[in-house]
Amino acid sequence: MLKVQGVSKFFHDPVEVQILKEISFEMKSGEFASIMGKSGCGKSTLLYILSTMDSQYSGDVWLGDSHFGSLNADELAELRNEYIGFVFQFHYLLPEFTVLQNVMMPALKLGKMSKSEIEYEAMEKLRLLGIEDQALKMATRISGGQKQRVAIARALINRPSIIMGDEPTGNLDSKNAEMVFDIFKELSQEFGTSLLIVTHDEDFARKTDRVIVMADGEIISQ
Ligand SMILES: Nc1ncnc2c1ncn2[C@@H]1O[C@H](COP(=O)(O)OP(=O)(O)OP(=O)(O)O)[C@@H](O)[C@H]1O
Ligand SMILES: [Mg+2]
Repeated sequence: MLKVQGVSKFFHDPVEVQILKEISFEMKSGEFASIMGKSGCGKSTLLYILSTMDSQYSGDVWLGDSHFGSLNADELAELRNEYIGFVFQFHYLLPEFTVLQNVMMPALKLGKMSKSEIEYEAMEKLRLLGIEDQALKMATRISGGQKQRVAIARALINRPSIIMGDEPTGNLDSKNAEMVFDIFKELSQEFGTSLLIVTHDEDFARKTDRVIVMADGEIISQ
């Protein structure tokens, strides 16, 4: 499903620092993995690369048969839109749109369903996350935890083959964090969705199939 081989990343700020050091691992379809590690160890940097958002790195990444380094920017965007669902560490909801419109957006971009089908699907996802009553509110008028769940609903809308999350339960109370965990678990078991989730929550990580531990830009156990 996902294969990462010898990925390294340097920042030049103002001196050269190596942030990721020869990261290699593989993930199978339906695998639910968490990534843990101290603040600053390179987790978000790695997820940006694996989600095609950052292409300034050395090494190789494959998603299915697609080799990231062989694709141009448009092809990468297409791959991302169709196969990768991403939940950022900080929400990037579009403030000028409603909750429902935010969730519908990636599906409208992909253009594989009619607008009414997309709206139906989006409402289903919001229901799944227990926030369907917020659908028509502007994205700025809901709480942090609700925003987080909207971002998760949005990541699910195109039924991606892999979901990457950067602390997707970071702003949630334990009840909602558990709900999100259960949704992820169900996606992996029922639909073979792979999940790669950065978390600081030991309880959350312990329940996943596999914990990848990073330190100083390296994977120290997986
Ligand atoms: N644009 C940048 N330019 C220079 N250095 C950066 C940049 N972005 C991140 N870094 C540095 O790279 C390192 C890894 O950052 P990263 O955001 O990947 O950490 P993280 O493991 O996600 O931490 P956290 O758990 O706090 O989110 C840090 O030392 C950070 O200061
Ligand atoms: Mg981070």
